[in-house]
Amino acid sequence: MSLDVVILAAGQGTRMRSKTPKVLHPLAGRPLVRHVVDTALSLDDARVHVVIGHGGDSVRSSLETVTGATNLSFCEQTEQKGTGHAVAQSLEGLGDGKVLVLYGDVPLIQTKTLQTLLDHVDDEHMALLTVTLDDPTGYGRIVRDDKRAVTAIVEHKDADAAQRYIRECNTGIMAMTSAQLKRWLPALSADNAQGEYYLTDVIAMAAADGVEVDASQPSSPVEVEGVNDRRQLAALERAYQRRQAEHLMSAGVGLADPARFDLRGDVTVGRDIQVDVNVILEGQVTLEDDVIIGPNCVIKDSVLRRGAVVKANSHLDGVEMGEESDCGPFARLRPGTRLGARAHVGNFVETKNANLADGVKAGHLTYLGDAEIGAGTNIGAGTITCNYDGANKHRTRIGENVFVGSNTALVAPVTVGHGATIAAGSTITREVAESDLAIARSRQTAKSGWQRPVKTPKS
Ligand code: UD1
Ligand code: CA
Repeated sequence: MSLDVVILAAGQGTRMRSKTPKVLHPLAGRPLVRHVVDTALSLDDARVHVVIGHGGDSVRSSLETVTGATNLSFCEQTEQKGTGHAVAQSLEGLGDGKVLVLYGDVPLIQTKTLQTLLDHVDDEHMALLTVTLDDPTGYGRIVRDDKRAVTAIVEHKDADAAQRYIRECNTGIMAMTSAQLKRWLPALSADNAQGEYYLTDVIAMAAADGVEVDASQPSSPVEVEGVNDRRQLAALERAYQRRQAEHLMSAGVGLADPARFDLRGDVTVGRDIQVDVNVILEGQVTLEDDVIIGPNCVIKDSVLRRGAVVKANSHLDGVEMGEESDCGPFARLRPGTRLGARAHVGNFVETKNANLADGVKAGHLTYLGDAEIGAGTNIGAGTITCNYDGANKHRTRIGENVFVGSNTALVAPVTVGHGATIAAGSTITREVAESDLAIARSRQTAKSGWQRPVKTPKS
């Protein structure tokens, strides 16, 4: 049986007070609607239809890179005439199996909850997700008859005083057969308080058709919470991060404070990892066994091999750290950085497109860009690879067991042979041969009896 998922994402989201369409605001680094699309695509054989309107082009382009995008299509709703009208835009593209309706601004809905809804759908049953709220103001109310059967949804603005006392609310998420939907949608009218075509009116039609409405509740209310303003977005972000932190701790990761840890992407973890406070992981991160991450670090798209240590306040992007290597505090490792096993990068060191082989040490205040550095080499404080001539980038190649003295400038392209030594303060512009000592600085001179200038007295 086919499954079509219709995601409503045409609304503007005025209360965000933003030029960005609401569904593109990020939660854990991913647009809200992207969470919903990814969850929808996790259902077996789902074809996903996103109803776009406000900011439609940017919503569409933000979803083009989704994995499984071949099962993703878009329907335009040029005027927002209500949720029923929105779903109607997808009717032509629907198969003849089941249809699930989701909201692009309800990001934390879980696959399992949706699967349960879908399991209840057949020719005689539709499924509805409801939630019981202490303050149901603004929500559609679930009306039941004296046998507790759901007979209708009444929107807050259309509800009478007695109905407003009902605390069971519509989440907006529902599932039915495509045949049922095709029967009911064309019969909707906009004769209500908001002058809109309400999707919720299909519930009364179901009851009238003898289709039983199977109402169930999510395992946690955050699953069905929507984002209308920035307060709600921040609250869902915390809920989501909390859930991720719990998962990681169950997997054996030590988090100094789960409330001060953020994962904006995916992380693969080993055992006995220690993460201090205020750490942000972004994109695709791998942390092998025994990795230690100090406080206030940002680590993006990186692989940290067994026993690697990132000390406080370091920023890593596109990095591979070898086994038992370490960096920081205050290291900035940029894309294309590879540290070999037991390599050491200390404070105020910046690297980019740099390969530091096993055991390389660059302890202090250094820039290594477009560099190849052989095993065991020591890079002195203040060493700079001058990799950019104003137009092009050039590589610096340094052999194994080289000693680069402090405050050396290596003007690329340049090569330094194995075992060479470079005297402190050198500006290296030509090849240094294996095992040579290169000194490239002016000789020290002395003027004996030198008199310092003295201040002229003010008249
Ligand atoms: C809707 C439900 C209400 C439910 C509430 C839960 C209806 C009539 N009401 O009310 O019962 O309790 O959600 O949050 O369905 N959208 C479109 N096109 C439109 C209108 C809406 O794409 O023409 C999208 C919005 O972008 C949003 C979703 O549908 O993602 C819900 O619309 P919204 O206006 O927020 O519905 P509510 O009035 O909150
Ligand atoms: Ca809403």
